Amino acid sequence: MENKKIVVFGSYVTDLTGRTPKFPTEGETVMGVSFKSGPGGKGSNQAVAAKRAGGDVTLVTRLGEDDFGKLALNFYDKEGIDSSKIIVDKNSDTGAALIIVNEATGQNEIIVIIGACGEFKPEEVQALKETVASAGTVLCQLETNPEATYKVLDMAKQAGVTTVFNPAPARKLPDEVLNGIDYITPNETEAEIITGIAVTGYESASKAADVLLGKGVKNVVITLGNKGYYAKNAQSEFTGAPIQVNVVDTTGAGDAFNGGFTAALAAGMSFEAALIYGNVTGGLAVEKLGTAPAMPYKEEIMAALNK
Ligand code: RIB
Repeated sequence: MENKKIVVFGSYVTDLTGRTPKFPTEGETVMGVSFKSGPGGKGSNQAVAAKRAGGDVTLVTRLGEDDFGKLALNFYDKEGIDSSKIIVDKNSDTGAALIIVNEATGQNEIIVIIGACGEFKPEEVQALKETVASAGTVLCQLETNPEATYKVLDMAKQAGVTTVFNPAPARKLPDEVLNGIDYITPNETEAEIITGIAVTGYESASKAADVLLGKGVKNVVITLGNKGYYAKNAQSEFTGAPIQVNVVDTTGAGDAFNGGFTAALAAGMSFEAALIYGNVTGGLAVEKLGTAPAMPYKEEIMAALNK
């Protein structure tokens, strides 16, 4: 029987989000219109998206022994996410992200302080060997200390577990990390930093994808913001347009895409069907304010797919 279990290895931070009519320039104070705090962080957002999209999800992250950490654990209980592998570190603070959302455009600016989830120790990662090997799919980002992510990806590859790697936030990557990845999902900026090719549309995305395929990645998905996505493997290439939505807040749209895409792959969908499912998941998430709380449920995704 197919193994549907998804292990997400990544960050949790508390999102502190202010909405404003315009972004401040350096030295400027702008009067905002609203403030909200809630669960965020790319790893956690992707875990929530995958769970709500129908996945069986275990999240591995690190939290401090503080109020933000408690908020996260309570949230996972409510969401039905397995939090048994989360490390709570009494000597560290739970991370936080300071997010400004422009209410006119829905675009954002973010400062993230990853705190406890940037302090994975080699022995903590090594202890995940069984958890990783027992998964059907492992989903990683780059919002923890990077060597911990690289090691988890390597353990997954060694165990023959499907790997989905969202290389965000952007950084250059060693070739050995890319080699053997099943699915990589950068956005334009991340694709440019990894490949050196400026990605501005489908043609340049295709060139960047070729570089990644040449480094041993098996399937490439480049998300192109409001232009949709470009995807390629050895046999095929796909493009997808964004779905028509009422944009409220784009923060976490990429996380929604990755969570929905991974849940679809884990459920046995083809590459192309999973791309469409992820695309709809991402589209629905931008219609609501916030990151993890804005992730759509499977019923909503199915309803939008059947429209
Ligand atoms: O991808 C969006 C996330 O990035 C936010 O939730 C914020 O926490 C930052 O880490």
